[in-house]
Amino acid sequence: MLVLREIYKSFGAVKALKDVSAEVRKGELITFLGPSGCGKTTLLRCIGGLTKPDAGDVFLDGEIINDLTPDKRGTQMCFQNYALFPHMTVAGNIGYGLQVHKWKKKRIQERVEELLHLVRLDGLGDRPIDKLSGGQQQRVALARALALEPKVLLLDEPLSNLDANLRVMMRATLREIQKRVNITTIFVTHDQFEAMSISDRLVVMHDGIVEQIGAPSEIYEKPSSEFVASFVGYVNILNGEVHNLGSETEPAVICTELGDLQVLRSEDDIEVNERVFLIVRPETIQIGPYGEATGINEFKSTVITSMYGGSTIKYTVDVQAKDIVIDQFDPSHVGIFEIGEKVSITIPQNVHILKK
Ligand SMILES: Nc1ncnc2c1ncn2[C@@H]1O[C@H](COP(=O)(O)OP(=O)(O)OP(=O)(O)O)[C@@H](O)[C@H]1O
Ligand SMILES: [Mg+2]
Repeated sequence: MLVLREIYKSFGAVKALKDVSAEVRKGELITFLGPSGCGKTTLLRCIGGLTKPDAGDVFLDGEIINDLTPDKRGTQMCFQNYALFPHMTVAGNIGYGLQVHKWKKKRIQERVEELLHLVRLDGLGDRPIDKLSGGQQQRVALARALALEPKVLLLDEPLSNLDANLRVMMRATLREIQKRVNITTIFVTHDQFEAMSISDRLVVMHDGIVEQIGAPSEIYEKPSSEFVASFVGYVNILNGEVHNLGSETEPAVICTELGDLQVLRSEDDIEVNERVFLIVRPETIQIGPYGEATGINEFKSTVITSMYGGSTIKYTVDVQAKDIVIDQFDPSHVGIFEIGEKVSITIPQNVHILKK
């Protein structure tokens, strides 16, 4: 529905966007995710017509919209600080764009009521903006952005002004409203958990380029680069060299700093002697009492740190002088290991292989 083709944008010597291409599907919530300064806001502004790219095209429903002004594009941007009008009521804010578009008073009233209901602010139309909580203001901003039924909603870090608990609640609210209205939405955040929890797909950005586009589980389980692997959740990255390719039924053998690992290859097209990274998520490693360590991919190790978090415990263990991070669920049931205690850990056979 929305296509970004080879977008470039520089500010003086800063190359904010370098050849960015992506496609957004109708009705999906897609998130631009990446560290501060990677170009997320710049890309969003290029879509909304607030920033002119140096090169590249933006298509909406098959038409190039490069030269259309922001109000003619069918996009609507919702800013981080909400940019609500402080001297107006809730209804005044939500109906502002409708007034500008010369809607009749009665129709504006009806639409505002409908939107108040949508964002669960029924009855608060007459409230001054400064008498609202942060979460309520956020919902007013959303209602105002939706008022003219844009084709694409652009949200730049819309939850970053809210405290932690409210932020989690508003995530769910936002997602629920987005699905109900079925509006194509581009969401920007640098928070990987936020991104993973509300999005249909993620566009992971780094330094002005797109690193990977995919569903959250795909990005988490099969990251296409070291950057994506370490930006999206914690990860243990092992350096390996392929010793033996295995077969359909036999796992490959990869020599790592921990020792030889047996790895199921799935579709990865690796070669003997090739150098690779193995991506091992902390929650996939098993930790158990110290034994002979004779199982597949089992290694002797020592607990260096342990952080109790209620539902999980996060250990760092030492294996051959390499730190490995492990998340163990339900620790009080499974048993807690002490710092300095010797343990055995088991790396799963289905780790993701990344070519170096
Ligand atoms: N108007 C501008 N003038 C000069 N440099 C700019 C301008 N806007 C952005 N930049 C630079 O372009 C790069 C990308 O900025 P952008 O605001 O798109 O990043 P971002 O990913 O949104 O970061 P954040 O997460 O901090 O909001 C940064 O290096 C930034 O300093
Ligand atoms: Mg930004």
